[in-house]
Amino acid sequence: MSPTDLRQPRFIQLYREDRAALRQELAEGLLATPAHSSPKYLYDPLGSRLFDAITELPEYYPTRTEAALLLTHGAAIAREVPKGVTLVDLGAGNCEKAARLFGLLRPARYVAVDISVDYLNNALQCLQRQFPSLDMLGVGLDFSSQLALPPEVGEGPRLLFYPGSSIGNFTPDEALAFLRQVRAVAQGGGLLIGVDLVKPVEVLEPAYDDALGVTAAFNKNLLLHINRVLGSDFAVQDWEHAAFFNAEASRIEMHLQARRGLTVRWPGGERRFAQGERIHTENSYKYRSGDFQSLLTAAGFAQVQAWTDERGWFAMFWAQA
Ligand code: AVI
Repeated sequence: MSPTDLRQPRFIQLYREDRAALRQELAEGLLATPAHSSPKYLYDPLGSRLFDAITELPEYYPTRTEAALLLTHGAAIAREVPKGVTLVDLGAGNCEKAARLFGLLRPARYVAVDISVDYLNNALQCLQRQFPSLDMLGVGLDFSSQLALPPEVGEGPRLLFYPGSSIGNFTPDEALAFLRQVRAVAQGGGLLIGVDLVKPVEVLEPAYDDALGVTAAFNKNLLLHINRVLGSDFAVQDWEHAAFFNAEASRIEMHLQARRGLTVRWPGGERRFAQGERIHTENSYKYRSGDFQSLLTAAGFAQVQAWTDERGWFAMFWAQA
């Protein structure tokens, strides 16, 4: 192959932002009692960078625990999952996690899915140079609302990869609906998914309220993003980051709490917040291994296997579709 006919990744952008719908969703959330906002608004360009910084924090154990788990048990996992399939990476971002598995899983095709192909472009171009014979496709899709893969993904068996415990940002009902959709598109293959497990509150809470204040910045940056989309006048300094474990619901909750009584205004609406009143910005559910296994079974997966680290903090599940 000459340098000029090197294989190139292909890209398909399916998600189209509907600003009016986003504004309506945001306004409805702010006017609700209690006020809330979808966690997807945490991820504007600055929010995505702050999240990357979170994964480097000493308190934020999930990313490094999952990476270590995949290193330790990668060969065992690879023995279970089918080879030569289409690897579909959900929420691929910089594609690093999946790329680390290429050697073990030997996929025939790599499909990186994220909300925008702009996030995938550089990473896929770089990866294509490292893996010139691997067929690569980038898909811009909001798979959290509907997991409808385009025909370009191909017909062969698929291994869906959903690492990072992002499944914890869905409610259990949403997670079940999402897992059912995953099973439907993974026929002949299965799902490899990272799940954060219940652990002592002394470990959980600092992971979402770190000493450097990076998670606080990540949470407050949501207000700047809302200001841009909705045209609101949130002042970041009026809000405090709050994160705690709700044991009954088995989830970390993130909120923004008003430091003083204030009114937030946007074109066509306003909301009065009393001092101490909160906006609920994210849930991060923590599962018991058996409960997540039951969720996979309820979603219709046939055979389920799990690997955990020695502290039992995080699990990687392989579920055959
Ligand atoms: C992306 N997601 C799995 C992270 C989590 O742990 O729920 C988001 C996050 N929120 C605060 N810190 C990290």
